[in-house]
Amino acid sequence: RWTAVDAWALDALHPKESHLYEHIQFATELSETKGLPSIEVSHLQGKYLMTQCQMIDAKKVLEVGTLGGISAIWMASAGPDVRVTSIEVDEHHKAVAEEAIAHAGLSDRVEVLLGAGVDVLPKIRAQVESGERPKFDYVFIDADKGNNFNYYNEALLMCRSRACIIVDNVVRMGLLADDSAAENPGVKGARVVIGAAGKDGRLLGTSLLQTVGEKNYDGFLVCIVK
Ligand code: DHB
Ligand code: MG
Repeated sequence: RWTAVDAWALDALHPKESHLYEHIQFATELSETKGLPSIEVSHLQGKYLMTQCQMIDAKKVLEVGTLGGISAIWMASAGPDVRVTSIEVDEHHKAVAEEAIAHAGLSDRVEVLLGAGVDVLPKIRAQVESGERPKFDYVFIDADKGNNFNYYNEALLMCRSRACIIVDNVVRMGLLADDSAAENPGVKGARVVIGAAGKDGRLLGTSLLQTVGEKNYDGFLVCIVK
């Protein structure tokens, strides 16, 4: 039913004749052809990220974990002056993402930086702190789960007031609440960042959104910066 509802809702909300639909289809098929793991956001999840960018009028978006560029295309499609900076550690993934981004006509608004988040984020932060780059309005963290907290913490240091930070995959089929899975790297990475967010005086608000659908059962951590 989750998958059926995704398909039904997508059909109603995301017209197949739109350019965006075609761009996302192209990116999805390219990722598959080029052998990328099929762990990208679902269409409705990507559309949710885009809608959230619209809600807060985000112009500068930061993403950790580009994969095939699908989430970056969604977020960049939130508006004509949205710019996305996305970090990807795998050269092949970056090349595939750039092809998908180019196909979507977004190469001038989406930059993919090669490297590990732990190396690239401090460099971006130095540029933000020196005024070379503006602060970010919206952050999507979707990379190696063991570094969730590092990415969240670096991102927070370069966010404007009322920026939104989303961390993907924090529910892990419900294992989040299963103490016997506490040493599972994905669960550990989720628990650490959620625990930190809950105590973080720099945040105005937090919540956790459980998601079901074609991507099974998982969830987003949602944070708003003070
Ligand atoms: C995995 C990673 C993801 O970012 C995701 O959305 C789903 C699964 C994984 O590593 O298993
Ligand atoms: Mg993910």
